[in-house]
Amino acid sequence: MTAQSALSRLLMPVAALPAEMNIADVADRLLTAECRAFLSLPVVDDAGRPLGLISRYTLQDIFMLRFGRDLHGRKPVSEVMNPAPLVVNLAMNLEEAAQQVTSQLSYPITEDFILVDGQGLYQGLGTVLDLLKAMEQRVAQRNAVLRKTLVDLKESQTQLVQAEKMASLGQMVAGVAHELNTPLGYVKNNVQLLRELQAPLLELAEAQTRLIDCLNDPACDEERLALALDEAARNRELAAPELLADDFEQLFADTLYGLEQIGELVVGLKDFARLDRAMSEDIDLNDCIRSSLVIARNNLKDKAEVVCQLGELPRIPCAPSQINQVLLNLLTNAAQAMDGCGRILIKSWADDAAAYVSVQDTGKGMPPEVLKKIFDPFFTTKPVGQGTGLGLSISFKIIQDHGGSIRAASQPGRGTRFLIRLPRAHAPLLQETA
Ligand SMILES: Nc1ncnc2c1ncn2[C@@H]1O[C@H](COP(=O)(O)OP(=O)(O)OP(=O)(O)O)[C@@H](O)[C@H]1O
Ligand SMILES: [Mg+2]
Repeated sequence: MTAQSALSRLLMPVAALPAEMNIADVADRLLTAECRAFLSLPVVDDAGRPLGLISRYTLQDIFMLRFGRDLHGRKPVSEVMNPAPLVVNLAMNLEEAAQQVTSQLSYPITEDFILVDGQGLYQGLGTVLDLLKAMEQRVAQRNAVLRKTLVDLKESQTQLVQAEKMASLGQMVAGVAHELNTPLGYVKNNVQLLRELQAPLLELAEAQTRLIDCLNDPACDEERLALALDEAARNRELAAPELLADDFEQLFADTLYGLEQIGELVVGLKDFARLDRAMSEDIDLNDCIRSSLVIARNNLKDKAEVVCQLGELPRIPCAPSQINQVLLNLLTNAAQAMDGCGRILIKSWADDAAAYVSVQDTGKGMPPEVLKKIFDPFFTTKPVGQGTGLGLSISFKIIQDHGGSIRAASQPGRGTRFLIRLPRAHAPLLQETA
């Protein structure tokens, strides 16, 4: 629907009156069926330009005077018309028309408004009531569009949160897979080595068994015994078990260490995701810090030395997997902000009301104009394909949902510090973000 057609729909083609028409005749015209619905009638000049509006009430007042009709009935209508009527151009849109009419309208409403074309020529009359109805319809339509937009927005927000979750999950899985690879590699090597080393030992054991069998056998002659002794001695020399003890010890110890590392990563992964736990529970944030560090280890390895100063914390209600997502974001951002190799300092402490975690890096920092935008969705300074600009906006939302706050301070060239505050107890606002 165009704006023009919206106004044309309000247009009533009421015949305009010439300025010379007398008051009595106009009054009669007001009584006709065509004009009964209107509060006023338009008066135009010869060219069809509006000159004024004559109100039903003005005429009523005149005729209610004693001898009003006789005294004034012959006078031209131009004498009593309102010479500054409400005029609306048909090219206006509905909102502009409503604004113009309401700004000039006075109470009580005794007039309609004149609709003119682009040349200012009279086209018809419109009533204020119809204009209000059209506006109401327009508002209802807009509301419906807004409601739909809101639903769409919520949906795409959910999708974005999901996408970011998947991205951080992907990042995490890639990191953990990489971490698992190192211990897996040397556990495999060690086991292969152990297999090679055990072969001569097994042969020695077999030779010794044959020798014992021979010794225990009264029918075993000298020649067979000498052969068995010889074979056992040769195998012993080949296997050299006295030289193997230390190697075995070392290989088993290394293998066990590797397996422990694998176990630690698997537990870390499980702790990080906490898929098996409820949303709100009493959590030690230091555990979240530790499991996020296990997961981020691969990303941080060549980028930063991590120093932890973790204080004693009260257990607080939160969704650990969401808090882990925030911490992983902060750690990843810190690593990405390093030019060479820097330092990340993680501190935690508490007071009577809240627990705090700060993540401080010695990265390249941010100028104030970047700093003020970092929590905006899609704000990123990273090249296309490297950053979506959603990490911090989602982190902000997560911390906000926990009733807490997240703030950042930064100095270009020196580094950045993020401070998270999570209250010890908070309103039950915690919601699952899809
Ligand atoms: N520790 C930091 N040091 C310097 N700049 C930072 C730091 N953390 C965030 N920023 C700035 O804030 C911007 C927004 O960060 P955010 O985590 O929201 O998105 P991103 O890291 O660019 O992309 P994504 O996290 O989606 O991969 C970054 O592009 C970067 O400019
Ligand atoms: Mg990020």
